[in-house]
Amino acid sequence: MFARITGVGGSLPGNPVTNLDLIRRGVDSDDDWIITRTGIRARHLATPETLSSDLALEASRKALRSAKVDADEIDLIILATSTPDCIFPGTACLLQAKLGNKSAMTFDIQAACSGFVYALTIAEKFIRTGNCKKALIAGAEILSRILDWNDRSTCVLFGDGAGAVVVEASETPGILSCVAHADGAYHSILTVPGMVYGDKIIGHPFLKMDGHAVFRFAVRALFDIAEKCCANAGVPPGDVDWFVPHQANLRIINSTAKRLGIGPERIVVTLDAHGNTSAASIPLALDVAVGDGRIQRGQKLLLEGVGGGMTWGAVLLEF
Ligand code: UT7
Repeated sequence: MFARITGVGGSLPGNPVTNLDLIRRGVDSDDDWIITRTGIRARHLATPETLSSDLALEASRKALRSAKVDADEIDLIILATSTPDCIFPGTACLLQAKLGNKSAMTFDIQAACSGFVYALTIAEKFIRTGNCKKALIAGAEILSRILDWNDRSTCVLFGDGAGAVVVEASETPGILSCVAHADGAYHSILTVPGMVYGDKIIGHPFLKMDGHAVFRFAVRALFDIAEKCCANAGVPPGDVDWFVPHQANLRIINSTAKRLGIGPERIVVTLDAHGNTSAASIPLALDVAVGDGRIQRGQKLLLEGVGGGMTWGAVLLEF
């Protein structure tokens, strides 16, 4: 029994906000710096009343429609987010209620930008062991709420959005290999080091990143895990049809792909239009490339992500 992606959906709030729009709003930056250092040209930002579960709902409905699955058939919902609607219940439960599903097992995953890869890895185990038949996996983020808009080294990098996939039990492949790791010793290089204590916020409630340290970590971890993930399935990385990486920095994406022997024409890049949407970036990129016809059934896809924790992971699958 394999676990196979049968539907994909995405959701982006509002209109694109370009680098120049941010500068006009008072961010001390320049368009050229952002494009050259990151590849980002625009991102979407949610309105104050929007919740992560709202974006997840729209992406999930699209994924369910494309899989031709009804919400009440879903028996597992995993939602990856660093920006939950509230402390508890889990945002996956709130998404479940909005979808009208009454029986699925639901939980959130907190693995920052690796959240979607972690969630897919877990869903695959549930399906392969026969514990569930139809899973909904979403990544949803409203990162704009945890950005310090006076910190130009981080606020220009991130965006809001959600992506979702339906994963079903199937006799044909399918997810071929999943690998995930974490090393908490690196917790301080990418973090939101704040907490709610009584009616106060203790610590710092905004995203802090040591960009150089994260860059160095990401380049090494992403190459290693992609090689390991492909080796487990006996597929040379250079043979994958599409590389769908976490969308954080075009320089990281290109150097990883080059070392893996994957040409630029086989990389799905959406960070120019979405920025870094953390746990949502991989399913959003999938949604774009499936929607425009680049990704076709039967092709091999390599998904991979790295994020706060530090966490990192990769999934190789036949679409
Ligand atoms: O999603 C999780 C994974 N996240 C990542 O993978 C992110 C990894 N890191 C990065 O992508 C890069 O390190 C950054 C894009 C964050 C930074 O790029 P960099 O090439 O490492 O730039 P830098 O930090 O070395 O900054 C160079 C200069 C500094 O000026 P001085 O001190 O050289 O005069 C910064 O003050 O760029 C300046 N700078 C800016 N200038 C204009 C920093 N942010 C900005 C900005 N606009 N937004």
